[in-house]
Amino acid sequence: MGATIATATGAPHAAILGIGAYRPRRVVPNSAVVDAIDSSDEWIQQRSGIKTRRWADQDESVQMMSVEASRIALERAGLDARQIDCIVVATVSHLLQTPAVATAIAHELGTDQAAAFDISAACSGFCHGIALASDFVRAGSARHVLVIGVERLTDILDLTDRGTAFIFADGAGAAVVGPSDTPGIGPVVWGSDGEQFDLIRQREDWRDVVGSPEAPGSGVMPHLVMQGNPVFRWASFAMAKIGQQALDRAGITLDDLDVFVPHQANMRIIDAMARAMKLPAHVRIARDIADQGNTSAASVPLALDRMIEEGEARSGDTALLIAFGAGLSYAAQVVRVP
Ligand code: UT7
Repeated sequence: MGATIATATGAPHAAILGIGAYRPRRVVPNSAVVDAIDSSDEWIQQRSGIKTRRWADQDESVQMMSVEASRIALERAGLDARQIDCIVVATVSHLLQTPAVATAIAHELGTDQAAAFDISAACSGFCHGIALASDFVRAGSARHVLVIGVERLTDILDLTDRGTAFIFADGAGAAVVGPSDTPGIGPVVWGSDGEQFDLIRQREDWRDVVGSPEAPGSGVMPHLVMQGNPVFRWASFAMAKIGQQALDRAGITLDDLDVFVPHQANMRIIDAMARAMKLPAHVRIARDIADQGNTSAASVPLALDRMIEEGEARSGDTALLIAFGAGLSYAAQVVRVP
């Protein structure tokens, strides 16, 4: 028989201790994107609720935006970067296959000790990261975890593609997760549907782009493409059930809920989910998409940060987070607002 292996013991509970955000400087109105896709301001507003979006300038890299959002989250959590044991970065637009951008972020923040890695779960990546962080803290794998959702989707946008050019945008959000005496993060409800793998995807395989000396590739940047309508229908109905399951698993009723922070994919999806879940009138709903666009992994922390900034979400409030996207993949959990 082998030796007994000791196991780690963590905190009784985990909670979000601080949130931070970085929004790119450049505000891009619908009028700037419509010509290349034969669209109109009216169509975009009516179909998606987007009036303007934020697009990153050259200097606003994935790393830069992440560091800025993280510094704010750390300050609000009252922590120094050296107290972070683990950094989880959710992104699909860090354009190096390896190494992970998380290690560069850790270094720039001033810690070269933290475990640091990226995860790829598209728009649901931040909620996956919060689930991992909560479990790491409770299991004793880490005491403080920095979870970052960041995208620079403009790098992989085809500005002539009608299905995506008007919807996607750039930004970063960060959350510090740490120990708590009381439960601050409920059980995650997550899953995937790989049968729908092709609905949102990188159009070109990297091998098609680069090719080989004998068969040179296309040379074009791989782009993000989406069959919007099936995703729209799936998100509007299936995701409301996932939201309800997250409430049930947290032992929360709709009456207990203060804030609803769904992935900012489309204003009509947000409204359809709120209707399908029968959210009572007192529940405040994140509607960051109108002037931020869809920032994939960054959208939930950006939306929550804004609600906190504007006093719509107050410290101690009970919030339902739910995110969904390419894979298809999804994740939802109830959290206490820091
Ligand atoms: O973040 C990850 C998860 N993503 C999502 O959840 C996004 C989900 N999908 C959506 O948000 C919506 O599907 C879109 C906003 C992308 C599109 O809205 P839709 O209501 O699903 O439009 P549609 O694709 O069904 O197209 C409706 C009509 C079509 O014309 P006809 O056939 O009715 O004459 C399209 O050709 O609108 C036309 N159309 C456009 N018109 C102007 C499609 N794209 C455009 C466009 N501008 N950009």
